[in-house]
Amino acid sequence: MTRFSPREAGSAVSAFADAALDRMVAPGYSRLGYALRARRWGDEDPVDQALTGAVVAVTGTNSGIGKAASAQLAGFGAEVVMLVRDVEKGAAARADILRANPGARIRIERCDISDLDDVRSTGRRLGETLPKLDALVHNAGVLPDVRRQSAQGHEITMATHVLGPILLTEELLPALARSARPRVVFVCSGGMYTQSLHVEDLEYRSGTYRGATAYARSKRMQVALLPALAARWAEANVTVAAMHPGWVETPGVAASLPGFHRVAGAVLRSPDQGADTITWLAATAHDLPNARFWHDRKTRPEHYLPRTRNSAAEVDVLRQFVERALQG
Ligand SMILES: NC(=O)c1ccc[n+]([C@@H]2O[C@H](COP(=O)([O-])OP(=O)(O)OC[C@H]3O[C@@H](n4cnc5c(N)ncnc54)[C@H](OP(=O)(O)O)[C@@H]3O)[C@@H](O)[C@H]2O)c1
Repeated sequence: MTRFSPREAGSAVSAFADAALDRMVAPGYSRLGYALRARRWGDEDPVDQALTGAVVAVTGTNSGIGKAASAQLAGFGAEVVMLVRDVEKGAAARADILRANPGARIRIERCDISDLDDVRSTGRRLGETLPKLDALVHNAGVLPDVRRQSAQGHEITMATHVLGPILLTEELLPALARSARPRVVFVCSGGMYTQSLHVEDLEYRSGTYRGATAYARSKRMQVALLPALAARWAEANVTVAAMHPGWVETPGVAASLPGFHRVAGAVLRSPDQGADTITWLAATAHDLPNARFWHDRKTRPEHYLPRTRNSAAEVDVLRQFVERALQG
């Protein structure tokens, strides 16, 4: 029989507790899950000022997780480009961050991530003018009450979470390629565990439209595309990741999921806790495996239910659809 040292036994128990938290969903995604896992992290990584000299860009930083991530990244010494669609709200968020950290280096750029024309022109300009880009965080998110379309006529959650972020990355590739260790992070959601790819209806035109379903489908698309994106961006040496922030107290959750917000309110994570893994993925000194799904600083399974798995051919249908959509 295998004998474990006390240290190995402790680590096995802790890995078991971590996996159990994942499968019980609620405790793992709550502030309890964060508190239990964070006890093991220590503060050796990322080191203080780990991002000094780095340039990072974050989308959707007016509030919630994106604002908290911007503050954390600036706190580690990065110059942060906040990409927002409402510059007045962006300026207020920037002022809040500067109040807490007067030395923070933050600038604001206007961009509606769901609008491919806007993304193309902003991305192209920044791709040419930024000295380099070390991390790009696709955080902007939306959960609509009814079916809405983007400026180019795409279903809005897919446009905001999939098409806009991929196009933005492609336009920023020249700047990413000038970084020694470029990382791209999709802020995804555990909601994707409930959905598979619906390749027959990627624009969600048929059936009863539910915002939460559209949202979860679009987040599933992000994860399904990771290997194809890693291959596509390999020349720029990009490491791409998707992550789930947990259940987080943000204006977005309060407005889009009022029932959930009421019931889960007391156990929701703070925006800082939700942003932690984004910042860690951008700043950690460790080499990261490419094209993986993360939660609380660890890679996690991409499926818990057999019914959400898709074939390689289905993923390829999605990949081709995205390529066509980005060509306009
Ligand atoms: N909170 C959670 O429990 C949770 C759980 C899983 C995943 N997430 C993900 O975390 C991310 C941040 O969400 P949050 O909870 O922090 O919500 P939030 O407070 O509503 O923040 C979302 C941000 O995205 C921006 N945004 C939306 N559409 C945009 C567009 N087309 N162009 C540019 N910016 C846009 C919003 O800007 P405006 O101010 O202009 O509206 C806002 O600043 C989202 O991707 C969400 O799916 C959150």
